[in-house]
Amino acid sequence: MAFDRPTILMCPPDFYGIEYEINPWMSRSRSSDSTLAGEQWQALHDLLISLNADVRLMTPVKGLPDLVFTANAGLIHRSSAYLSRFRHPARQGETSRDEEWFAANGFRCVTLPEGMNFEGAGDALFVGDTLFSGYAIRSDVPAMEWVAGEVRCRVIPLQLVDQRFYHLDTCFCPLRSTEVIAYLAAFDDYAQKVIKEHIETIIQVADEEAIRFACNAVVLGEHVVLNTGCPNLESDLRDLGYEPHATPLDEFIKAGGSAKCLTLRLDGEDSAAWRKEFSPKACQSGDGFTAIENI
Ligand code: ARG
Repeated sequence: MAFDRPTILMCPPDFYGIEYEINPWMSRSRSSDSTLAGEQWQALHDLLISLNADVRLMTPVKGLPDLVFTANAGLIHRSSAYLSRFRHPARQGETSRDEEWFAANGFRCVTLPEGMNFEGAGDALFVGDTLFSGYAIRSDVPAMEWVAGEVRCRVIPLQLVDQRFYHLDTCFCPLRSTEVIAYLAAFDDYAQKVIKEHIETIIQVADEEAIRFACNAVVLGEHVVLNTGCPNLESDLRDLGYEPHATPLDEFIKAGGSAKCLTLRLDGEDSAAWRKEFSPKACQSGDGFTAIENI
């Protein structure tokens, strides 16, 4: 499997809606506007394409409203997809659809042992050669240890303590192997200490932007795509040489998701050390992915 540019999996929101409540953002009495959700999703999709991403699409399925959140389809490592084992029954029907897509697109699908909860790239993010993982609300530590054993990498489990930030990608966003965006109050004290010890630069997000899903950003080289309403983070990013791109995603926040949740990087996140070994010629240059040659 060869990728010649950042490649992202998305799923159109044809059947998206608030049909159940599995996190504090979701309320059946606050339904989403499907026309607006469609427009917001399309704008995100088009923005990613304008930033040189190759966007692949999954077929939406009636009755699986959260299938749009492809970050939870699984964790990608080289050509393997570690499939999610959702904690909540409402989302468990997604896994067979995800598996079908990965298998049809050349990935080796790996199923975790029964009894382990694991929500894919929503809770597991590579920073350098380490897998940072969120646990306690959706995914479990044994699941993360199992995956790290398969991948043969170090794992750092981080305990999530605020139900609003129930996945790691709602409060932690690797920019590159030494730099992350984080909302530290979403972690227990020990996890906060561990993050500070292991990461050179932490762009901290304040409460009012954390609840706008500031940390739920898509990173494409120096480009960072995020929800609107996060001006302080945008300015911090600019100071560090990144170019932020805000696009409104309020209809998805009603389900507890934003830009990053709506995407899955199929070629590995920019911050993952393995992607450089896997496709050495697709490593980013200073200005994004212009240095790509044929792989
Ligand atoms: N309603 C979905 C859930 O609660 C939202 C998933 C958001 N995905 C993410 N990667 N944070 O599971």
